[in-house]
Amino acid sequence: MLPVNCKVLADPEEVAGQACRIVIAEAEAAIRERGMFRIVLAGGSTPQRTYEMLAGMAQDWSAWEIFWSDERCLPSDHAGRNSCMAQDVWLSHVAIPAGQIHPIPAELGAARAAAEYTKVVLDRKPFDLVLLGMGEDGHTASLFSTSGDPIAPVIAVHGAPKPPAERVSLNFETLRACRKQLVLITGAEKAPALFAWQQGATLPIAHAVRNDACLLADAEAGRSTNFMA
Ligand code: 6PG
Repeated sequence: MLPVNCKVLADPEEVAGQACRIVIAEAEAAIRERGMFRIVLAGGSTPQRTYEMLAGMAQDWSAWEIFWSDERCLPSDHAGRNSCMAQDVWLSHVAIPAGQIHPIPAELGAARAAAEYTKVVLDRKPFDLVLLGMGEDGHTASLFSTSGDPIAPVIAVHGAPKPPAERVSLNFETLRACRKQLVLITGAEKAPALFAWQQGATLPIAHAVRNDACLLADAEAGRSTNFMA
């Protein structure tokens, strides 16, 4: 089933604007209450506009700490890296201390990067906010199946159906180990998986997303579902 807090907004620009407002609100609350804001960034293209909007915000960036949900095993400066997109449109434009930005070292190869990133995330959970996207097949992060290792906090992914085949991903429980999840889904090509999820399909996204998550979809992705804006 879909999380309880779902909204269908007019278009990707509105989704990005609402997502930006939610991220800022969570950051200000976390910094006020705990002095730090730990956010896990989604990969793929959907969150790019949200990241661009965040680049223009005036924030106490010194208290932000950045992680990623997953990474593709490509060279660290490769344009296809999830870390490079966020760095290019947002992180290189704001004053988050470099030691508080934790890209997944996927250039080391999936197994070694998963082992390294496990050490990074283990004593930083629970995260304050985890951003997630969804693929057309209902995957999220680089979790393409629900039948993998259920225990390891961070896993090496081999043979991923979405290139590149080699990836690193936070596992389901790690993606759920947070105070809030925010799921961003836009585009007509996502409508069938979103509808299947609403109908109870046991997709990876359904396994990763908690019932109390916030889901923002645009009208194209949400056209087959019946949750209200
Ligand atoms: C990746 C992402 C992946 C992404 C979905 C949606 O590395 O590809 O982590 O999980 O979030 O595939 O991708 P789009 O946002 O590009 O549609």
